[in-house]
Amino acid sequence: MSTGMNLTLKVWRQPNSQAPGRMVTYPAADISPDMSFLEMLDVVNDQLSLKGEEPIAFESDCREGICGACGLVINGVPHGPGKGTTTCQLYMRSFKDGDTIHIEPWRAAAFPVVKDLVVDRSALDRIIQAGGYTSVNTGSAPDGNALLVPQDIAEEAMDAAACIGCGACVASCRNASARLFVAAKVKHLGILPQGQSERAQRVLAMVQAMDEEGFGNCTNEYECEAVCPKEISASHIAFLNREQAKACWNPPRQRGASDGA
Ligand code: FES
Repeated sequence: MSTGMNLTLKVWRQPNSQAPGRMVTYPAADISPDMSFLEMLDVVNDQLSLKGEEPIAFESDCREGICGACGLVINGVPHGPGKGTTTCQLYMRSFKDGDTIHIEPWRAAAFPVVKDLVVDRSALDRIIQAGGYTSVNTGSAPDGNALLVPQDIAEEAMDAAACIGCGACVASCRNASARLFVAAKVKHLGILPQGQSERAQRVLAMVQAMDEEGFGNCTNEYECEAVCPKEISASHIAFLNREQAKACWNPPRQRGASDGA
């Protein structure tokens, strides 16, 4: 006897970025509670292909919560009902037989829809390109203990580095703000010894890039923290605010500027 669930999916279909989109209803029959959400979509897509219909476009890569590719808005919540969970690690046992599930792409002006559930998140890449790196020439790989990092600093930096850049923070925010993403990157690099030389210029460049990409500002809604699959704390945004204020009060010198030193 089948123990599978019978579900109704309402899925955003949009052929390309220019065409209008709409919600389309599909049955998802005999779904195992042990399937991941993406495996369930794979099953539905196989059935659509067999019928000669266009499969639902969605993104995934690692399918183990590492790459950040798999963002879907499920019943209005980025990554769905599981706390601290990416869409690929959400299991169908989180739903009940007979449920109707609404599936939409990330909604933000800075994330234009490419097709169906796939959005263009390259705006986040351009924020990283603006300053989310350390450009000091370090030569070949140094010994692991050549540059000592206090344990508490290392742990704080690692907490921030857990950000996988999925964009759920943006999708959850009423302002479509990327401030939690930027805060995680600024903190990760800004508190480590290797990141000090570009600390001020990094925060100014990344915030400027964020603004230019059309992301909104933060009004302390905390939705970002609630949906983040890596449970990045909104307290990092307070760090970002302090870093930005300090950099504005004491602007970094331009590279190559003569200072007589
Ligand atoms: S597919 Fe990589 S995090 Fe989900």
